Amino acid sequence: MQRPPVKIAVFVSGGGTNLQALIDAQKSGIITHGKIELVVSNKPNAYALERAKNNSIETVVINNKDYSDKREFEAELKKTLKAHEIELIVLAGFMCILTADFTNAYKNRILNVHPSLIPSFCGEGFYGLRVHKAALDYGVKVTGATVHFVNEIPDGGKIILQKAVSVQETDTPEILQRRVMEQAEWHILPEACEIVSKEIYEKGDAYEHIQN
Ligand code: GAR
Repeated sequence: MQRPPVKIAVFVSGGGTNLQALIDAQKSGIITHGKIELVVSNKPNAYALERAKNNSIETVVINNKDYSDKREFEAELKKTLKAHEIELIVLAGFMCILTADFTNAYKNRILNVHPSLIPSFCGEGFYGLRVHKAALDYGVKVTGATVHFVNEIPDGGKIILQKAVSVQETDTPEILQRRVMEQAEWHILPEACEIVSKEIYEKGDAYEHIQN
């Protein structure tokens, strides 16, 4: 018996160009085994929320600053995910580090896109433009993006896809960031999302198996 597409929640904090790539991939048939059911932002003014609304995707803001500790924040995240029967979480520019308690509850069910070739320029403190600045300061000639499973080690989970991107001599962090997004992130994130959704779909491995 066929099951419905895997229910996906996308976690965001900012502009949401990766969320847009996921939405576009769903529309164009690159993602078929999963469906974005929910967009969760920890920032009330994230532009990503507008992108979700423009595509009639339900949104929820869970502001980490409203909680006295991470446990309470993550308890609220879990409650929301449970209410929507979410089976797969995609971190698309989500700028909060999740604890082991959370990542263990969704083992092999959380993906993240990181704007470098892991294990370079990753881990705590490496996010957004800082990653590209560090790559330029080091003088690397090739950088790229990585999609990986999320575990308790920041940027430490198993790699699903990577794509290399050339660095140009005249690059600024902003120019490099844009090239890495255009040439790598916006392609490998939807692809990885489909690969993992298909696996969950075919295993018939549904929501009930996730520990909460
Ligand atoms: C992306 O470049 C993403 O890889 C990065 O933040 C940007 C979000 O852009 N994520 C990290 O650095 C996580 N460590 P977006 O909001 O336009 O998708």
